Amino acid sequence: MSSQRLSLRQPDDWHVHLRDGAMLQAVARATARQFARAIVMPNLSPPVTTVAAAAAYRQRIAAALPNGCDFQPLLTAYLTDAIDPAEIALGFGEGAWVACKLYPANATTNSAAGVTAIEGLTPVFETLERIGMPLLIHGEVTSPDIDIFDREAVFIERHLAPLLGRHPGLKVVLEHITTIDAVDFVRTGPANLAATITPHHLHINRNAMFAGGLRPDLYCLPVAKRELHRIALRGAATSGNPKFFLGTDSAPHARTAKEAACGCAGIFNAPFALESYAAVFEQENALEKLEAFASEFGPRFYGLPLNPGQISLVREPLEVPRQLHLNDAAGTAVELVPFHAGETLPWRLQLDAPIAPR
Ligand code: NCD
Ligand code: ZN
Repeated sequence: MSSQRLSLRQPDDWHVHLRDGAMLQAVARATARQFARAIVMPNLSPPVTTVAAAAAYRQRIAAALPNGCDFQPLLTAYLTDAIDPAEIALGFGEGAWVACKLYPANATTNSAAGVTAIEGLTPVFETLERIGMPLLIHGEVTSPDIDIFDREAVFIERHLAPLLGRHPGLKVVLEHITTIDAVDFVRTGPANLAATITPHHLHINRNAMFAGGLRPDLYCLPVAKRELHRIALRGAATSGNPKFFLGTDSAPHARTAKEAACGCAGIFNAPFALESYAAVFEQENALEKLEAFASEFGPRFYGLPLNPGQISLVREPLEVPRQLHLNDAAGTAVELVPFHAGETLPWRLQLDAPIAPR
Protein backbone atom coordinates (compact mmCIF):
# COMPACT_ATOMS: atom_id res chain seq x y z
CA MET A 1 0.00 0.00 0.00
CA SER A 2 1.58 3.31 -1.04
CA SER A 3 1.34 6.29 1.25
CA GLN A 4 -0.57 8.21 -1.43
CA ARG A 5 -3.29 5.65 -2.01
CA LEU A 6 -5.15 3.39 0.36
CA SER A 7 -7.10 0.49 -1.12
CA LEU A 8 -9.73 -1.05 1.11
CA ARG A 9 -12.35 -3.72 0.88
CA GLN A 10 -15.59 -1.83 0.39
CA PRO A 11 -16.94 -0.86 3.82
CA ASP A 12 -20.42 -0.93 5.36
CA ASP A 13 -22.08 1.52 7.72
CA TRP A 14 -23.48 -0.37 10.74
CA HIS A 15 -25.67 2.54 11.96
CA VAL A 16 -27.26 5.19 9.77
CA HIS A 17 -30.43 7.30 9.58
CA LEU A 18 -31.59 7.46 5.96
CA ARG A 19 -34.83 9.25 6.95
CA ASP A 20 -37.94 9.22 4.76
CA GLY A 21 -39.83 11.36 2.26
CA ALA A 22 -37.98 14.32 0.82
CA MET A 23 -35.03 13.86 3.17
CA LEU A 24 -34.57 10.21 2.11
CA GLN A 25 -34.38 11.27 -1.52
CA ALA A 26 -31.80 13.88 -0.62
CA VAL A 27 -29.51 11.85 1.64
CA ALA A 28 -29.64 8.14 0.71
CA ARG A 29 -27.19 8.55 -2.16
CA ALA A 30 -24.53 9.96 0.11
CA THR A 31 -24.48 6.67 2.05
CA ALA A 32 -24.82 4.45 -1.06
CA ARG A 33 -21.86 6.26 -2.63
CA GLN A 34 -19.49 5.15 0.15
CA PHE A 35 -20.91 1.97 1.59
CA ALA A 36 -22.03 -1.39 0.16
CA ARG A 37 -24.53 -2.02 2.96
CA ALA A 38 -25.89 -0.11 5.91
CA ILE A 39 -27.89 -0.88 9.03
CA VAL A 40 -30.79 1.53 8.62
CA MET A 41 -32.38 2.94 11.75
CA PRO A 42 -36.16 2.56 12.14
CA ASN A 43 -36.92 5.84 13.97
CA LEU A 44 -39.21 7.15 11.26
CA SER A 45 -42.51 8.80 11.96
CA PRO A 46 -44.32 6.42 12.46
CA PRO A 47 -41.52 4.01 13.41
CA VAL A 48 -40.84 0.74 11.58
CA THR A 49 -42.57 -1.79 13.84
CA THR A 50 -44.09 -4.25 11.35
CA VAL A 51 -42.81 -6.47 8.56
CA ALA A 52 -45.09 -4.62 6.14
CA ALA A 53 -43.67 -1.24 7.17
CA ALA A 54 -40.12 -2.54 6.70
CA ALA A 55 -40.95 -3.89 3.23
CA ALA A 56 -42.50 -0.58 2.22
CA TYR A 57 -39.52 1.39 3.57
CA ARG A 58 -37.12 -0.87 1.66
CA GLN A 59 -38.98 0.00 -1.54
CA ARG A 60 -38.82 3.73 -0.80
CA ILE A 61 -35.07 3.44 -0.22
CA ALA A 62 -34.61 1.58 -3.51
CA ALA A 63 -36.65 4.23 -5.33
CA ALA A 64 -34.43 6.96 -3.87
CA LEU A 65 -31.26 5.44 -5.35
CA PRO A 66 -30.05 5.67 -8.95
CA ASN A 67 -30.87 2.80 -11.32
CA GLY A 68 -28.32 0.02 -11.13
CA CYS A 69 -27.08 1.02 -7.68
CA ASP A 70 -26.55 -2.18 -5.73
CA PHE A 71 -26.46 -0.66 -2.25
CA GLN A 72 -28.10 -3.02 0.21
CA PRO A 73 -30.10 -1.53 3.08
CA LEU A 74 -30.27 -3.77 6.16
CA LEU A 75 -33.43 -2.78 7.96
CA THR A 76 -34.17 -2.84 11.67
CA ALA A 77 -37.27 -3.29 13.82
CA TYR A 78 -38.14 -0.54 16.31
CA LEU A 79 -38.92 -2.04 19.70
CA THR A 80 -41.97 -0.77 21.54
CA ASP A 81 -43.49 -1.96 24.81
CA ALA A 82 -46.16 -3.75 22.80
CA ILE A 83 -44.20 -5.30 19.92
CA ASP A 84 -44.98 -8.96 19.26
CA PRO A 85 -41.95 -11.30 19.37
CA ALA A 86 -43.61 -13.44 16.67
CA GLU A 87 -43.63 -10.45 14.26
CA ILE A 88 -39.94 -9.86 14.95
CA ALA A 89 -39.06 -13.50 14.28
CA LEU A 90 -41.23 -13.56 11.15
CA GLY A 91 -39.45 -10.53 9.69
CA PHE A 92 -36.03 -11.93 10.61
CA GLY A 93 -36.85 -15.22 8.89
CA GLU A 94 -38.03 -13.43 5.75
CA GLY A 95 -35.05 -11.07 5.67
CA ALA A 96 -37.31 -8.02 6.13
CA TRP A 97 -35.02 -6.86 8.93
CA VAL A 98 -31.75 -8.07 10.42
CA ALA A 99 -31.72 -6.55 13.91
CA CYS A 100 -33.91 -4.89 16.55
CA LYS A 101 -33.31 -1.35 17.79
CA LEU A 102 -34.00 -0.44 21.39
CA TYR A 103 -34.59 3.24 22.09
CA PRO A 104 -35.40 4.05 25.69
CA ALA A 105 -38.63 6.10 25.40
CA ASN A 106 -37.84 9.77 24.76
CA ALA A 107 -34.06 9.30 24.66
CA THR A 108 -33.65 10.91 21.22
CA THR A 109 -35.28 11.87 17.88
CA ASN A 110 -38.53 9.95 17.24
CA SER A 111 -38.18 7.74 20.29
CA ALA A 112 -41.48 8.63 21.97
CA ALA A 113 -42.81 5.16 21.10
CA GLY A 114 -39.67 3.50 22.51
CA VAL A 115 -39.35 1.20 25.47
CA THR A 116 -40.43 2.44 28.90
CA ALA A 117 -39.33 -0.63 30.93
CA ILE A 118 -36.61 -2.85 29.51
CA GLU A 119 -37.50 -5.69 31.87
CA GLY A 120 -40.96 -5.78 30.26
CA LEU A 121 -39.42 -7.01 27.00
CA THR A 122 -38.11 -10.31 28.36
CA PRO A 123 -40.13 -12.40 25.83
CA VAL A 124 -38.64 -10.31 23.00
CA PHE A 125 -35.08 -10.78 24.27
CA GLU A 126 -35.66 -14.52 24.69
CA THR A 127 -36.78 -14.67 21.07
CA LEU A 128 -33.74 -12.72 19.85
CA GLU A 129 -31.46 -15.00 21.82
CA ARG A 130 -33.09 -18.07 20.35
CA ILE A 131 -33.02 -16.92 16.71
CA GLY A 132 -29.61 -15.19 16.90
CA MET A 133 -30.94 -11.74 15.97
CA PRO A 134 -28.83 -8.82 17.22
CA LEU A 135 -30.20 -6.19 19.60
CA LEU A 136 -28.92 -2.67 18.88
CA ILE A 137 -29.13 -0.33 21.84
CA HIS A 138 -29.27 3.43 22.23
CA GLY A 139 -27.62 3.29 25.63
CA GLU A 140 -28.77 6.32 27.59
CA VAL A 141 -31.03 6.62 30.60
CA THR A 142 -33.66 9.30 30.26
CA SER A 143 -34.36 10.35 33.85
CA PRO A 144 -34.06 14.12 34.08
CA ASP A 145 -32.22 13.77 37.40
CA ILE A 146 -29.26 12.12 35.65
CA ASP A 147 -26.80 14.60 34.17
CA ILE A 148 -26.82 14.38 30.36
CA PHE A 149 -23.08 13.66 30.31
CA ASP A 150 -23.58 10.66 32.63
CA ARG A 151 -26.52 9.05 30.84
CA GLU A 152 -24.51 6.44 28.95
CA ALA A 153 -22.44 5.28 31.92
CA VAL A 154 -25.55 5.05 34.12
CA PHE A 155 -27.41 3.09 31.41
CA ILE A 156 -24.60 0.53 31.30
CA GLU A 157 -24.68 0.04 35.04
CA ARG A 158 -28.45 0.09 35.55
CA HIS A 159 -29.70 -1.62 32.42
CA LEU A 160 -27.08 -3.13 30.11
CA ALA A 161 -25.09 -5.17 32.62
CA PRO A 162 -28.25 -6.71 34.15
CA LEU A 163 -29.71 -7.37 30.66
CA LEU A 164 -26.60 -9.29 29.58
CA GLY A 165 -26.72 -11.18 32.87
CA ARG A 166 -30.32 -12.23 32.23
CA HIS A 167 -29.69 -13.10 28.55
CA PRO A 168 -26.12 -14.37 28.23
CA GLY A 169 -26.68 -15.56 24.64
CA LEU A 170 -28.06 -12.24 23.35
CA LYS A 171 -26.01 -10.54 20.62
CA VAL A 172 -25.83 -6.87 21.55
CA VAL A 173 -24.38 -3.82 19.81
CA LEU A 174 -24.05 -0.79 22.06
CA GLU A 175 -24.48 1.92 19.44
CA HIS A 176 -22.47 5.12 18.97
CA ILE A 177 -20.48 4.81 22.20
CA THR A 178 -19.14 8.03 23.68
CA THR A 179 -17.40 7.18 26.97
CA ILE A 180 -14.41 5.34 28.42
CA ASP A 181 -17.00 3.51 30.54
CA ALA A 182 -18.57 2.04 27.39
CA VAL A 183 -15.17 1.21 25.88
CA ASP A 184 -14.13 -0.68 29.01
CA PHE A 185 -17.49 -2.41 29.40
CA VAL A 186 -17.49 -3.67 25.81
CA ARG A 187 -13.78 -4.56 25.78
CA THR A 188 -14.03 -6.68 28.90
CA GLY A 189 -17.48 -8.09 28.08
CA PRO A 190 -18.43 -11.32 26.33
CA ALA A 191 -17.77 -11.93 22.61
CA ASN A 192 -21.47 -11.41 21.83
CA LEU A 193 -21.19 -7.73 22.91
CA ALA A 194 -19.83 -5.16 20.42
CA ALA A 195 -20.03 -1.41 19.81
CA THR A 196 -20.15 1.06 16.93
CA ILE A 197 -18.13 4.28 16.95
CA THR A 198 -19.02 7.40 14.95
CA PRO A 199 -16.56 9.69 13.17
CA HIS A 200 -17.73 12.73 15.12
CA HIS A 201 -17.11 11.18 18.53
CA LEU A 202 -13.56 10.43 17.35
CA HIS A 203 -13.02 14.04 16.23
CA ILE A 204 -14.75 16.26 18.76
CA ASN A 205 -15.15 16.55 22.48
CA ARG A 206 -17.89 18.53 24.21
CA ASN A 207 -15.97 21.81 23.93
CA ALA A 208 -16.62 21.79 20.18
CA MET A 209 -20.32 22.52 20.78
CA PHE A 210 -19.42 25.78 22.50
CA ALA A 211 -16.36 26.94 20.53
CA GLY A 212 -16.83 30.70 20.09
CA GLY A 213 -20.61 30.38 20.49
CA LEU A 214 -23.29 27.73 20.26
CA ARG A 215 -22.59 25.21 17.43
CA PRO A 216 -25.82 23.36 16.66
CA ASP A 217 -24.17 21.26 13.94
CA LEU A 218 -22.04 19.50 16.52
CA TYR A 219 -24.96 18.61 18.77
CA CYS A 220 -25.98 14.96 18.65
CA LEU A 221 -27.08 12.22 21.01
CA PRO A 222 -25.40 10.75 22.85
CA VAL A 223 -23.77 14.13 23.29
CA ALA A 224 -19.97 14.41 22.89
CA LYS A 225 -18.14 14.02 26.21
CA ARG A 226 -14.84 15.17 27.80
CA GLU A 227 -11.49 14.77 26.05
CA LEU A 228 -10.52 11.71 28.09
CA HIS A 229 -13.50 9.89 26.59
CA ARG A 230 -12.59 10.89 23.05
CA ILE A 231 -9.07 9.58 23.59
CA ALA A 232 -10.47 6.24 24.81
CA LEU A 233 -12.73 6.00 21.74
CA ARG A 234 -9.79 6.65 19.42
CA GLY A 235 -7.85 3.95 21.22
CA ALA A 236 -10.71 1.47 20.83
CA ALA A 237 -11.38 2.22 17.16
CA THR A 238 -7.73 1.88 16.16
CA SER A 239 -6.93 -1.06 18.48
CA GLY A 240 -7.74 -3.83 16.02
CA ASN A 241 -10.21 -5.27 18.54
CA PRO A 242 -13.10 -6.77 16.49
CA LYS A 243 -15.66 -5.65 19.10
CA PHE A 244 -15.41 -2.07 17.82
CA PHE A 245 -16.56 -1.25 14.29
CA LEU A 246 -17.79 1.51 12.02
CA GLY A 247 -21.23 3.05 12.48
CA THR A 248 -21.57 6.66 11.41
CA ASP A 249 -24.87 7.55 13.10
CA SER A 250 -25.25 10.01 10.23
CA ALA A 251 -28.45 11.78 11.32
CA PRO A 252 -29.40 14.60 8.96
CA HIS A 253 -31.77 17.38 9.95
CA ALA A 254 -32.51 20.32 7.66
CA ARG A 255 -30.47 23.39 8.53
CA THR A 256 -33.62 25.14 9.69
CA ALA A 257 -34.36 22.33 12.16
CA LYS A 258 -30.81 22.42 13.58
CA GLU A 259 -30.53 26.20 13.84
CA ALA A 260 -33.70 26.75 15.79
CA ALA A 261 -34.78 27.71 19.30
CA CYS A 262 -34.95 23.99 20.08
CA GLY A 263 -32.51 22.46 17.63
CA CYS A 264 -32.59 18.75 16.68
CA ALA A 265 -29.86 16.32 17.72
CA GLY A 266 -27.92 14.71 14.91
CA ILE A 267 -24.80 15.19 12.79
CA PHE A 268 -24.87 14.63 9.02
CA ASN A 269 -21.57 12.92 8.27
CA ALA A 270 -22.54 10.54 5.45
CA PRO A 271 -21.05 12.52 2.51
CA PHE A 272 -17.44 12.33 3.80
CA ALA A 273 -17.64 9.61 6.44
CA LEU A 274 -14.76 7.47 5.23
CA GLU A 275 -12.55 10.49 4.77
CA SER A 276 -13.40 11.52 8.32
CA TYR A 277 -12.45 8.12 9.77
CA ALA A 278 -9.28 8.00 7.62
CA ALA A 279 -8.12 11.32 9.08
CA VAL A 280 -8.44 9.89 12.61
CA PHE A 281 -6.67 6.63 11.79
CA GLU A 282 -3.84 8.56 10.17
CA GLN A 283 -3.48 10.86 13.19
CA GLU A 284 -3.27 7.76 15.35
CA ASN A 285 -0.65 6.16 13.03
CA ALA A 286 -3.06 3.30 12.48
CA LEU A 287 -4.10 3.53 8.82
CA GLU A 288 -3.37 -0.18 8.46
CA LYS A 289 -6.18 -0.83 10.99
CA LEU A 290 -8.84 1.12 9.07
CA GLU A 291 -9.88 -1.70 6.74
CA ALA A 292 -10.72 -4.17 9.50
CA PHE A 293 -12.67 -1.52 11.46
CA ALA A 294 -14.57 -0.34 8.38
CA SER A 295 -15.01 -3.52 6.36
CA GLU A 296 -14.42 -6.71 8.36
CA PHE A 297 -15.45 -6.55 12.02
CA GLY A 298 -19.04 -5.47 11.34
CA PRO A 299 -19.93 -8.24 8.88
CA ARG A 300 -18.20 -10.82 11.08
CA PHE A 301 -20.31 -9.76 14.08
CA TYR A 302 -23.52 -9.84 12.03
CA GLY A 303 -22.56 -13.16 10.39
CA LEU A 304 -22.62 -11.67 6.88
CA PRO A 305 -20.10 -12.12 4.05
CA LEU A 306 -17.37 -9.55 3.52
CA ASN A 307 -17.89 -7.32 0.49
CA PRO A 308 -15.89 -8.40 -2.55
CA GLY A 309 -15.49 -4.87 -3.98
CA GLN A 310 -12.62 -2.48 -3.36
CA ILE A 311 -12.49 1.26 -2.89
CA SER A 312 -9.58 3.68 -2.86
CA LEU A 313 -8.76 6.68 -0.75
CA VAL A 314 -6.15 9.01 -2.23
CA ARG A 315 -4.11 11.55 -0.35
CA GLU A 316 -5.58 14.73 -1.81
CA PRO A 317 -6.97 17.66 0.14
CA LEU A 318 -10.74 17.44 0.38
CA GLU A 319 -12.46 20.74 1.06
CA VAL A 320 -15.73 20.02 2.78
CA PRO A 321 -18.41 22.50 1.70
CA ARG A 322 -19.94 24.80 4.31
CA GLN A 323 -23.36 23.57 3.31
CA LEU A 324 -24.88 21.13 0.85
CA HIS A 325 -27.99 21.70 -1.23
CA LEU A 326 -29.23 18.20 -1.94
CA ASN A 327 -32.17 17.69 -4.25
CA ASP A 328 -35.18 15.69 -3.23
CA ALA A 329 -37.22 13.73 -5.81
CA ALA A 330 -39.20 16.85 -6.74
CA GLY A 331 -35.96 18.72 -7.39
CA THR A 332 -36.38 20.94 -4.35
CA ALA A 333 -33.09 21.64 -2.58
CA VAL A 334 -32.74 20.56 1.04
CA GLU A 335 -30.07 22.58 2.82
CA LEU A 336 -27.83 20.56 5.14
CA VAL A 337 -24.61 21.32 6.97
CA PRO A 338 -22.18 18.38 6.72
CA PHE A 339 -19.79 17.34 9.46
CA HIS A 340 -16.40 19.05 8.93
CA ALA A 341 -18.11 21.96 7.11
CA GLY A 342 -15.46 24.41 5.94
CA GLU A 343 -12.55 22.12 6.92
CA THR A 344 -10.03 20.34 4.72
CA LEU A 345 -9.56 16.59 5.16
CA PRO A 346 -6.35 14.84 4.05
CA TRP A 347 -7.82 11.80 2.24
CA ARG A 348 -10.46 11.68 -0.47
CA LEU A 349 -12.55 8.75 -1.65
CA GLN A 350 -11.70 8.16 -5.30
CA LEU A 351 -15.03 7.79 -7.00
CA ASP A 352 -13.86 6.47 -10.32
CA ALA A 353 -12.13 3.54 -8.64
CA PRO A 354 -13.63 0.45 -10.22
CA ILE A 355 -15.90 -1.41 -7.82
CA ALA A 356 -16.09 -5.09 -8.56
CA PRO A 357 -19.63 -6.36 -9.15
CA ARG A 358 -21.26 -7.89 -6.09
C1 NCD B 1 -30.57 10.59 15.80
C2 NCD B 1 -31.66 11.10 14.89
O1 NCD B 1 -31.71 12.31 14.63
O2 NCD B 1 -32.44 10.29 14.40
N1 NCD B 1 -29.91 11.71 16.41
C3 NCD B 1 -28.67 11.74 16.91
O3 NCD B 1 -28.28 12.76 17.49
N2 NCD B 1 -27.85 10.70 16.80
C4 NCD B 1 -31.13 9.64 16.78
C5 NCD B 1 -30.10 8.88 17.56
O4 NCD B 1 -29.39 8.03 17.01
O5 NCD B 1 -29.97 9.17 18.76
ZN1 ZN C 1 -28.55 6.92 15.52
